[in-house]
Amino acid sequence: MPMRIDVLTLFPEMFAGPFDASIVGRAREQGLVEIRIVNTRDFSTERQRIVDDYSYGGGSGMVMKAAPIFAAVEAMRCPEECRERVVLMTPQGARLDQAKAAELARYEHLVIVCGHYEGVDERVREHLVDEEISIGDYVLTGGELPAMVVMDAVIRLLPGALGAEDGAVTDSFASGLLEQPQYTRPAEFRGWKVPDVLLSGNHEVIRVWRREQALKRTLERRPDLLERAALSEEDRGLLEKIRGQRDE
Ligand code: ADE
Repeated sequence: MPMRIDVLTLFPEMFAGPFDASIVGRAREQGLVEIRIVNTRDFSTERQRIVDDYSYGGGSGMVMKAAPIFAAVEAMRCPEECRERVVLMTPQGARLDQAKAAELARYEHLVIVCGHYEGVDERVREHLVDEEISIGDYVLTGGELPAMVVMDAVIRLLPGALGAEDGAVTDSFASGLLEQPQYTRPAEFRGWKVPDVLLSGNHEVIRVWRREQALKRTLERRPDLLERAALSEEDRGLLEKIRGQRDE
């Protein structure tokens, strides 16, 4: 059974393109995921398909009405029991990370609601959505780009989506570390050489070098990740060595 992702948006046209290319395009072709983009306006019962209104209590911004969002999500729900999650994209949500993407990838059906205008009627948050997700501490004009970010992060984790079987396991964050530097041919480009160790053919030496580089990069750029990463005895030894070199 493919995973189904339904997106509720006022701007369906924004979704043309990103899901046809690359890994996500291939995942769709392979039948790993089925994506439906649904226009919230189609679920408005009002004249001119109105979906927003003034904020009770005053203020300049418009608020998205509860009724069309409830009607749309209810129409999209699985007809039978299924592992389903309704997500609202909002800067007020919990920050997206790799663990959250992995968690969402385990559902059979995701409904992603894109917020817009000044906000969404609070009853949507309280009584309809299961969780609220933010893609970072900045404000975008709507939840559409954030929804696409979540979808990309989730879809590439679906079994079979990545060509190399271990791609998703070894990449940044899956292990809790940043990735080590990578090189491809030529061995020398404009006088800059690929580190000798990578040309040595000694797999064990290369493995240790890569791990050390990943640890070094994480320590330099994202020390916060190291605190949560699952580190082996070997990793701790390498970190000690790296810290020693820094202090020299
Ligand atoms: N809508 C507007 N900004 C957002 C953000 N940073 N994350 C999720 N949804 C948003």
